[in-house]
Formats: sequence, C-alpha cells, structure tokens
Amino acid sequence: MKKINIGLLGCGTVGTGVAKLLIENRELIRSRVGAALNLKYVADIDIQTDRGISFDDGVFISDAQKVLDDPDIDIIIEMIGGEGLAKEFIQKAIHNGKHVVTANKALIASHGNTLLRAAAEKGIDFAFEASVGGCMPIIKSLRESLVGNRITSMIGILNGTCNYILSKITDEGKTFEAALSEAQASGFAEADPTLDVEGFDTAHKLAILNSLAYGMEINLKDIYIEGISGITPLDIEFAGEFGYRIKLLAIGKDKGDAVEARIHPTMIPFDNILSNVNSNLNAVMVSGDAVGDMLLYGYGAGMMPTGSAVISDAADIARNILSGAKAGRVPLLSYQSENIRKIP
Ligand code: HSE
Repeated sequence: MKKINIGLLGCGTVGTGVAKLLIENRELIRSRVGAALNLKYVADIDIQTDRGISFDDGVFISDAQKVLDDPDIDIIIEMIGGEGLAKEFIQKAIHNGKHVVTANKALIASHGNTLLRAAAEKGIDFAFEASVGGCMPIIKSLRESLVGNRITSMIGILNGTCNYILSKITDEGKTFEAALSEAQASGFAEADPTLDVEGFDTAHKLAILNSLAYGMEINLKDIYIEGISGITPLDIEFAGEFGYRIKLLAIGKDKGDAVEARIHPTMIPFDNILSNVNSNLNAVMVSGDAVGDMLLYGYGAGMMPTGSAVISDAADIARNILSGAKAGRVPLLSYQSENIRKIP
C-alpha cells in the first residue's frame, strides 16, 4: 500500500481536527483513497499544550522549515491562518514542489490569484475547500458538480460567528458581547473578531465563491461590506414582530455584464429556509440554469467540520498523486472566462 506523506503546519483548533481525523480515521481513509495519508509532521510554535492526540515520537515538532524542506513530504496542510507566516510557508511549499491544502480564506481572498498562478506554473495542486463554509462542499460543488451550469446567484450565511450572535440575541435575549464571547470560547470566531462582526470574513469567502462561479479573478475590493455591529436588539425585535429574522447575507449575482457582490444584514421572512439556519450553522443557496436552486447546509466552522473539509482536499490530491495526474485539480484561474467581468 502506498503512502502519501503529509506535513501539517499549525495545530490550533482546525489543525487539531485535521490531525485527529488523520490519526483516528486512518484505516477508513486509507481504504477509501487507496493509500495511507501519513501524518509525518505536525509543526506548531506551541508543542507543550495537550491537544488530546497521541503523536508518534518525532511527529509533533516546532520547526516548520524542517517540514517544508523534507523531500519526502508530498502535501503541506497550512492551518496557521492570517497573511504573514502562512503566506511565506505556502510560497516555500510551492517553490519546493509540494501540493498545498489550506483553509486560509483571508490569504486566498488577498493573494489567491498570485499563489494559484505560482502553483499552476509548478504543476502542483492547491486546494482550499475548507476556506468557505466549513464542512459544506461548496468549492467542490461549484468546481465539479455544477460545472455544466451558468450560476445565476449565490445567497449565503457564511459566517458562523455572526449567525451565532444574531441567533443568541434573537432567541435567548443575550447581549452582543456575551454572544461574541461564547463564540470566541467555542473556537469559531477569528483571532480578531472584527473580521467576523464587520463582515470581512464573509467578504473573503464571497470573493472566493464569485471567482469560481463567475469566472473572474478573486476580487475583494469591490464587494460592498456591512457587518452586524450596527444591529441593535430593538432592530431584531421589530423585525420579529413583522415576521422576519435578521441574518448577515453574502450575495453574489450574475447581472449579465457584471457581478453584483454584497454583504449586509438582511431581513428574511420566517418561511424562507435561510431564516431557519441558526446558531453557528452556515448555508448557501446556489442557483444554476440547469439545477434551479440547490441548498448546502452545515457547520461552517469548528474543529471537526472544518477538519473534514481539509481531509477531503488531501484525499483528492492523494488520488491524483496515485493516478499520476499532474495537478489533477484544475487551478482556479485556468478556466477563467475570457472576459473578466468587474464587480460594479
Ligand atoms: N470565524 C469564521 C466563522 C470561521 O465564524 O465562520 C470559519 O471560517
């Protein structure tokens, strides 16, 4: 049985979920992929805190460079987050010809075009299913299942923290601050929660989805962004009296010669399915000219749901390696439409 060696960089919340799945479901994954996904190294600056995982000797280390320089590593899984070290490590991984899996939506939204081109030039895979919607296979849906469709719109709840805060205020009368603290304690808020509550995290995700759905370069700067910090309990109460719940929506629509892209709190009627997506759950309604409406629903954040999406990418890449396909996953930009449409 063949072995694909994985180097995991970052063992925080999601990184721990990835390591747990690779170790606890090792045999299951091996039987499905046809090769062992061997967690050769896990690198983190903190190797003292107990992650609840029994790593074999020499696996859990603090030296990320050792992982990046190891010629036996096939896939680098970047779980550090942010745009500093994570970017540097991904660039090095690409330079060293290693396939990359990441959940780093901020990095992809800001530097994805450059990184994907670099990966394409090297003929390596660069996968990021976990960057949007946690466990929901929205990237694979757009890239694979819906490839024959013209996507007409995508309307989604893509930030678990905002949805959790709005749900807790609406259903339990909690304060904004108390609900945010709970989201932080549960590990799904960003290190800087401004990214969540001001809508930037949702915008990062919409920028990625728009590029896949509408064949344009990843474009963050032209998205209209309004978060939930201006929403008061009174707004929520009045909306409820009129039969609406307030949700932070990401909206991407094909307008023919342009793409409309906006993030803002929206009043949704109680009988609309998105109105019933609560707590830290995510959902996205994708409409295509062949499929009509298609809804994806699930946990958009958290250790194991997001870890699950990361494993799906690693498994895809492992299958490509086994089949001898050179960068079997078509890089994002290679099927970009000839006329890149700008968001107005
Ligand atoms: N902070 C993000 C959220 C994490 O709350 O949805 C997952 O992207």
